[in-house]
Amino acid sequence: MSDATGTVTDPLEYREGRGALDFGMLAVRNGLLTAEQLDQCRAKQAASANLGENRTLKDIILTDRLMTEEECLRVERAQQQLTQDRERKQDLKFKGYEIISTLGEGGLGSVFKARQVSMNRLVAFKVLHNQWISDDEFRKRFVLEARIVGKLSHQNLIQVYDVGREGDYYYFSMEFVDGRTVEDLIREAPRKQMEVGRAVDICIQTLRAINYYKDFDIVHRDIKPSNIMITRSGLVKLGDFGFVKSKLDKELGYEGMVLGTPDYIAPEQAMGKDDVDYRADIYSLGATLYHMLTGRPMYDGTPSKVMLAHTRTPMPDPRTYRPSLSDDVVNVLMRMLEKDPNKRYANITSLFADLEALRDAHTAKAATKYEIGKSSIMRALNIEKSRHNEMAEKIKAAEAKAEAASAAAKVAWGVAAGACIAAITFLILWLAT
Ligand SMILES: Nc1ncnc2c1ncn2[C@@H]1O[C@H](COP(=O)(O)OP(=O)(O)OP(=O)(O)O)[C@@H](O)[C@H]1O
Ligand SMILES: [Mg+2]
Repeated sequence: MSDATGTVTDPLEYREGRGALDFGMLAVRNGLLTAEQLDQCRAKQAASANLGENRTLKDIILTDRLMTEEECLRVERAQQQLTQDRERKQDLKFKGYEIISTLGEGGLGSVFKARQVSMNRLVAFKVLHNQWISDDEFRKRFVLEARIVGKLSHQNLIQVYDVGREGDYYYFSMEFVDGRTVEDLIREAPRKQMEVGRAVDICIQTLRAINYYKDFDIVHRDIKPSNIMITRSGLVKLGDFGFVKSKLDKELGYEGMVLGTPDYIAPEQAMGKDDVDYRADIYSLGATLYHMLTGRPMYDGTPSKVMLAHTRTPMPDPRTYRPSLSDDVVNVLMRMLEKDPNKRYANITSLFADLEALRDAHTAKAATKYEIGKSSIMRALNIEKSRHNEMAEKIKAAEAKAEAASAAAKVAWGVAAGACIAAITFLILWLAT
């Protein structure tokens, strides 16, 4: 459903057909429910609908004691706030931009597809949830840091174009990526586990972006599946630098719950250290790779439990969830996910080398599979070809036979005609004598 300006007004119309304002999704994003639990609850809900019962998701979650009443209330409040906020933003006019539709909703703001009028280009337009941003210092910092990020330019980074303010709302516009997020790809993969070669390739391309911006002493701070997009041609685009959030996380108390998941947070960030460097991003990339390969984030539970686990609990064995993972894959994950940044990959070059070796090994395996597939196709083709040849020979033989028969008939005719002529000649001669 869209209004006169083409703006998508129905929150159910984007992403998953349900929208990021959905109760279940918000609960998952905030670590109150695991994605697996949400799937199970939805299956129960569908089953109850088939029986004509129409139970709500909240009802099922409460009956199964997956969340408390209080937690449900918090999610509902956040849901209400987000919906009101988004509606208000859609009604706003941002100078120089035409909002076309809603792309998604994150912890920090709403993302719209828009046209930047001056450049006549499509952009992704992120408007921050303003009621949570009261701090002047924060506002200054947001603009300053967005400008720094706007100076970066790399094919694996979503380019930030512009930053500004309209009334109470802060926004920035960025390159519009016509593609999908890694979060989407995980959700769509069989058992939510992506092919190893593909997952590793996404990691390599993201690492190229890290390798580029780290030379500017910039740390992303929020590498996670929903912030990595893949274009239709397979190019990785890392977006959403988390500088704003690292500040917000500390400022927001209660309502800060919807700010996002700590599933991929580096231990040093979880401990609140200020002087983190690019190695924190290597950890988050490792946690993202772990999720792509196993189909689940490293730790389950409430945000505070997950944060604590990142600082103390060893990496759960990924082979528990995917036994076929090779030692090499597990070793790379372990080294990316070392709790102590000094024990993580000593330099990006060696991580590149290890990831490339993994990708090549797994792409070669996939190619072998393809070869096997190809050879069976070739075999089938050859059988078909020889059948065709056999048939062609039979047809030829039949034609030859027919030709021979007609030649024989011709000869017979010739003989008969000759005999006839001879007989007539003989008769004429006889009559003449
Ligand atoms: N540059 C972009 N181009 C196209 N679509 C985008 C772009 N940036 C974001 N989106 C879409 O908007 C959705 C919401 O993005 P957003 O960053 O707000 O959510 P999030 O990453 O889950 O949360 P957050 O980054 O605030 O923690 C994304 O999942 C994606 O589908
Ligand atoms: Mg994001």
